[in-house]
Amino acid sequence: MFLCHYLVQLMKHVIIYDSNYGNTKQVADHMAASLGNTTSVHVDEAGGMDWKDTELLIAGSPVNAWSPTAKMKKFLNGLDPERLKGVWVAAFDTRMKTLLSGNAAKKMARSLEQSGGHLIAPPIGFYVEKTEGPLMKDQMEKVDQWIMLIKSKMVRKPAN
Ligand SMILES: Cc1cc2nc3c(=O)[nH]c(=O)nc-3n(C[C@H](O)[C@H](O)[C@H](O)COP(=O)(O)O)c2cc1C
Repeated sequence: MFLCHYLVQLMKHVIIYDSNYGNTKQVADHMAASLGNTTSVHVDEAGGMDWKDTELLIAGSPVNAWSPTAKMKKFLNGLDPERLKGVWVAAFDTRMKTLLSGNAAKKMARSLEQSGGHLIAPPIGFYVEKTEGPLMKDQMEKVDQWIMLIKSKMVRKPAN
């Protein structure tokens, strides 16, 4: 029992985000607090990260021109094809609530899977009121529900 608990503690979670006005960072930091044992890192700092023992990687970006930010795309495209083998992955974005907002989360999820990651939850978008934010009312409840789904699925290991 103690050993099992110790091993779970050793596995870590990482959230890599980009954010122009702080809204995506706010979501990432809230997720990190909810998940526990989680590092929330700006994409600028992600290059030199130690990935050893990472169980879950979440990527978050604002939608910029229907896509993740240029920095996030560069980071994801730079991952080796096998880099995320055996790692749970998930992606979220922040966006405007319009029909033409686009879906950066879906694109990031596809990149993470192309690097060998196993998608643990559907890509999701959280809405901002205006370009600079703030996040719309009730979006943090939506964040909590998504994290609860991830936690419920993390009880098992991804297939290799
Ligand atoms: C250059 C630029 C392009 C944007 N393009 C889109 C877009 O295509 N679809 C959308 O829904 N929101 C778009 N937005 C609004 C962003 O989604 C919004 O600013 C973001 O969610 C705020 O998050 P942040 O504070 O983390 O940057 C754009 C914003 C900027 C600055």
